[in-house]
Amino acid sequence: MPHDWLILLYKTMVYPWFNDFSLFKDIVFYIGLAFISFHLYVFLKTVIAPSFFSEGNVLQKYGPGSWGVVTGASAGIGKEFCFQLAQRGFNVVLIAKNPEKTRGVEEEINQRYPSVKTKVIISDFRNSAKEGFFEDIMRQLEGLDISILVNNVGIYAKGFHDTPAHDLKNVTIVNCLPQVMMSRYILPKLLERKQKSAIINMASIAATFPRTRAAIYSATKVFNDYLSRGLRDLYPNIDIISLRPKFITSQMTDFKKPGIDTSHPASLINNCFAALGKSPNTSGDIKHRFIEWRYLHLPSFITGFR
Ligand SMILES: NC(=O)c1ccc[n+]([C@@H]2O[C@H](COP(=O)([O-])OP(=O)(O)OC[C@H]3O[C@@H](n4cnc5c(N)ncnc54)[C@H](OP(=O)(O)O)[C@@H]3O)[C@@H](O)[C@H]2O)c1
Repeated sequence: MPHDWLILLYKTMVYPWFNDFSLFKDIVFYIGLAFISFHLYVFLKTVIAPSFFSEGNVLQKYGPGSWGVVTGASAGIGKEFCFQLAQRGFNVVLIAKNPEKTRGVEEEINQRYPSVKTKVIISDFRNSAKEGFFEDIMRQLEGLDISILVNNVGIYAKGFHDTPAHDLKNVTIVNCLPQVMMSRYILPKLLERKQKSAIINMASIAATFPRTRAAIYSATKVFNDYLSRGLRDLYPNIDIISLRPKFITSQMTDFKKPGIDTSHPASLINNCFAALGKSPNTSGDIKHRFIEWRYLHLPSFITGFR
């Protein structure tokens, strides 16, 4: 008989289990228990545990007198990063494209934190594919003891075939190239330092699923997240973190008020400093961590995505 071996297999491997139904039930029970325990562990680790992280003294850790460099520093999350760095005692380099807005932020920092040194670099990252662009920024950073790089600059675009081609080109360039090149040029300086150094990369929750209404934006955010995670493995002595928040109150979200899925930039940044050096990524406060967990671990018919 051609299928004798199949019958033999059934009789020896399958039939005894169904014959002894209690053994089958036990196996299903333990598989279910292992499955639920695993997901509970992931939930506690990624959603609950970060609430107990304490930031400690970041200035002592990364070096008193050192500088934080922030791209996209004239508004939103980047502007708040500048204030939060200054509040913690770091000197701050602000890089953005609008001279009045950027100098306005610098003035505010100087008034609020008179002991903090500041420096403004005006650069439009839409031009960052041009020859010598990053070398020019690096010349202006010469001689500074940089300890923290915040790769924040980013822009948004919706649609695809009906979106002006140059908008899609700008999103691709501004969201990806500065993160690669600023890290490439500043990392050798960070590696030379005796004290700890850090790179903070802005990704987004849009990195966790493809967004049909803003496919190019979410694609660039996956790029940011993967670059960050790859570099973290490559340079384990540098604290590299990817930030993946949902909505943050800023000009990008038309100043959407803090609420069930929206947080203030300061909340994201406090959670970022608490997670820095402990975790490869954070989406920010507990509500954003819960939303991210939902997207990553619940089936798409519940989350409504994919
Ligand atoms: N807001 C959110 O809900 C959210 C959520 C997840 C991730 N993110 C990410 O967080 C980052 C910051 O977002 P945000 O909400 O703070 O945005 P934002 O309020 O629009 O601020 C963006 C900053 O980048 C500057 N900038 C824009 N284009 C530039 C260019 N070509 N060259 C130099 N600087 C430029 C802006 O300057 P101007 O004001 O002069 O344009 C501004 O300082 C982005 O990477 C974004 O993808 C935001």
